[in-house]
Amino acid sequence: MKVTVVGAGNVGATCADVLAYREIANEVILVDIKEGVAEGKALDIWQKAPINLYDTRTVGVTNDYSRTAGSDVVVITSGLPRKPGMSRDDLIETNAGIVKSVTEQIVAHSPEAIIIVVSNPLDVMTYQAHISSKLPRTKVMGMAGILDTARYRAFLAEALDVSPKDIQAVLMGGHGDTMVPLPRYTTVGGIPVTELIDADKLDAIIERTKVGGGELVKLMGTSAWYAPGSAAAQMVEAIVRDQKRVFPVCIKLEGEYGIKDCYLGVPVILGKNGVEKVIELDLNEEEMALLRTSRDHVIEVMNVLEKLGK
Ligand code: NAI
Ligand code: 2OP
Repeated sequence: MKVTVVGAGNVGATCADVLAYREIANEVILVDIKEGVAEGKALDIWQKAPINLYDTRTVGVTNDYSRTAGSDVVVITSGLPRKPGMSRDDLIETNAGIVKSVTEQIVAHSPEAIIIVVSNPLDVMTYQAHISSKLPRTKVMGMAGILDTARYRAFLAEALDVSPKDIQAVLMGGHGDTMVPLPRYTTVGGIPVTELIDADKLDAIIERTKVGGGELVKLMGTSAWYAPGSAAAQMVEAIVRDQKRVFPVCIKLEGEYGIKDCYLGVPVILGKNGVEKVIELDLNEEEMALLRTSRDHVIEVMNVLEKLGK
């Protein structure tokens, strides 16, 4: 399997590294616009292979899309990250132009590829990639839900002093402060989380999760990369190994949850065909209200993109 990662910055290089050392692909092509950066990072990952014992070939290129031809999956991480004081939505104008041109070049060389978008603002960059690719919605998706759910699970594991492995959770909606963690669908080794933690502590964790990206931007002066890069690699793995994993993934909704023409995170089954099924949970009124608020926010940002002329 051949996987291309566009953007050899913090997230892209981390994703390429995970894909290589976990041997998720046979060949990983790393692309960046900055001369030498992708070549250097790909070479560094390849030189780690004899130490960490993997044989995935990693190759870096500067803007040479011919080298990406025939990719099975492409991860798009190119674009500006957030700086302190910025929201993800502040990145829209610059990143939309980058995602559009990258998607067009990817599709020209790999018309069969499944595309995973990471660039922010995530839901609207997934929209941009989808329209620029002209591919079916099942083949163009955004990564955010796995990351946001991982943050929620990590905070819960710490609060309960249990292994993060035993925490299962669903989180829906846009990748922003309106995201919708769902305590009713959160379990710890099969036990409903509400039986193990006080409501006020759970609320505090939910609120921390919603601003989890911002917490890291404040600490580091730029946005996170280890968890985002690993989350994107986990989606690639589900596709190339046809694992049929159930993950929250951003996709264009076409009537699911009563929502149309909006890109939102929802639970899906991910396999060799991309999004193989959108799972529709039986949300209660309160949960649906939160999801509609998240939808309204994403639609506002989609409208900004439309005004920019895509
Ligand atoms: P970074 O600045 O470290 O890397 C971005 C890379 O993209 C740079 O190396 C840059 O040269 C490259 N680039 C810019 N224009 C390009 C083009 N036209 N073609 C190829 N490469 C190009 O940024 P970082 O931290 O890797 O973040 C990347 C993006 O991912 C940002 O938009 C960030 O907000 C987003 N992000 C999204 C997350 C999510 O959950 N969806 C989580 C973390 C970051
Ligand atoms: C994050 O959530 C900024 O979207 C990025 O870390």
